[in-house]
Amino acid sequence: MPSKQVFESKDGATYTTSTGAPVGVPYAAQRVGFQGPLLLQDFHHIDLLAHFDRERIPERVVHAKGAGAHGYFEVTHDISDLTCAQLFSKVGNKARATVRFSTVGGESGSADTARDPRGFAIKLRTEEGNLDWVFNNTPVFFIRDPAKFPHFIHTQKRDPQTHLKDADMFWDYLSQNPESIHQVMILFSDRGTPDGYHHMHGYSGHTFKFVNKDGNFHYVQVHLIKDGGAKTFDNETAGKLAGDNPDYGIQSLFEDIESGNPPSWTVSVQTMTPEQAEKFRYNVLDLTKVWPHKEFPLRPVGKLVLNENPQNYFAEIEQAAFSPSHTVPGIEPSADPVLQSRLFSYPDTHRHRLGTNYNQLPVNAPIAPVANFQRDGSMAFNNQGARPNYQSSILPLAYKEKPYNVIKHETWLGAANADLSYITELDFEQPRALWQKVFNNTDREHLVHNVAVHIKGVRSAEVRDRQLSVFAAVDQDIADRIAQAIGVSTVKPLQVKPAAEAVRFKAYATDQA
Ligand code: HEM
Repeated sequence: MPSKQVFESKDGATYTTSTGAPVGVPYAAQRVGFQGPLLLQDFHHIDLLAHFDRERIPERVVHAKGAGAHGYFEVTHDISDLTCAQLFSKVGNKARATVRFSTVGGESGSADTARDPRGFAIKLRTEEGNLDWVFNNTPVFFIRDPAKFPHFIHTQKRDPQTHLKDADMFWDYLSQNPESIHQVMILFSDRGTPDGYHHMHGYSGHTFKFVNKDGNFHYVQVHLIKDGGAKTFDNETAGKLAGDNPDYGIQSLFEDIESGNPPSWTVSVQTMTPEQAEKFRYNVLDLTKVWPHKEFPLRPVGKLVLNENPQNYFAEIEQAAFSPSHTVPGIEPSADPVLQSRLFSYPDTHRHRLGTNYNQLPVNAPIAPVANFQRDGSMAFNNQGARPNYQSSILPLAYKEKPYNVIKHETWLGAANADLSYITELDFEQPRALWQKVFNNTDREHLVHNVAVHIKGVRSAEVRDRQLSVFAAVDQDIADRIAQAIGVSTVKPLQVKPAAEAVRFKAYATDQA
């Protein structure tokens, strides 16, 4: 008879079944004698296996690899002229925050230092409900028409046959969709390989609408600037770390917080009136463009601090469900079509990934009381007791209107099927300024090198030359230098329509319809 191991609990916890019954021999299944088959009566063992079989939930279809932490957001400057959101009603107001950083294209086991944009998703728990800022570390994005998103993502993931990442597929998409070039220039600079997850800035990218109590709104872009500055790796260091320590980002975030060195960001906004938007050179709803800081300076708003590691990664980070549609009165989405699509896509994927009651999971549950007529469904932890599940005259719910009316903000009129991806010279101005004015010589050298080591894997000369012609449309020097680095002949710039043909932002109209 083997001797039974005896443990003394240090925190008062005793081993039980999932129904709370104590189990005397946890490491042994019930069986007939020492050699016989197992017993169906052994709930502990069957429950153990059955639960194990169901431990995995779907990983995020994008942004699967991540790291996260908790902390707080504090309002440091008064912006009540911009928004009536309760959080921003007073300097000193604080909200508990949960942040998840991520890479985009790789699976949940992929390397943290991959060349990729980084996700920077923030959940702020306010008295008026959750405010999620689901941002990236780049101020622009690859697309301005959301219909392209799933196709674009497919090309950055694995080939359906080889199940390998594929340089032809990658550049084939990007070269055919040149509005991506601004983001491509950022991605292939060293900003595409940040030093870990938390030495980087964060940007809304999208334009939001901040609405004040008088009902007036501003278009707003949000910036989170890392205190102490951002840090990046060069291509070779990032590549080496991907092999040596694929979890570098998770580890460095955890260790910085654990050692009392919490990362923090200064949060600012750029603002634009609707009238300014009509005169702005670029379309305010075009996610491939930035707003020049000289014209639209940063106005500080608050501070984000991450000072608390999760106690349980799965419960507090993996199950976190961020969505741009989780917002509060005073902060509205703009009509940016990519943002509009995201308003649908995130809660849709949460229902698939976490279940219909995903907002009842502790990490997602708002601190604001929830009362509505949603009931039941899988895992309905907060099923709202005996309260009626319709608007009953006997026990009605009060309705609280927003302090403003958005109906008069914008009037939209136009033909269906507008081509949002129409390419003009305007699409090359900002990437050109990045190359000629923002980058220094080292940045330029690194961009050429980083593209060269990637694009030399392309098998199709047609794809390679098409992408070189996109670079040449930014600046012939870029194409020439990349071509030289990979030993091919350079190409002429892609021919594009004049800037005057770009779709301008004219949709704003008051009381005209
Ligand atoms: C994650 C869709 C564009 C930032 C996701 C997820 C989906 C998605 C389905 C997985 C969410 C989950 O499983 O919880 C889309 C679509 C887009 C789009 C359809 C365009 C049409 C963008 C843009 C940004 C962005 C432009 C940033 C400005 C993020 C972030 C995450 C994410 C940060 C990770 C959230 C987390 O950590 O849980 N996206 N996305 N996405 N997306 Fe997007």
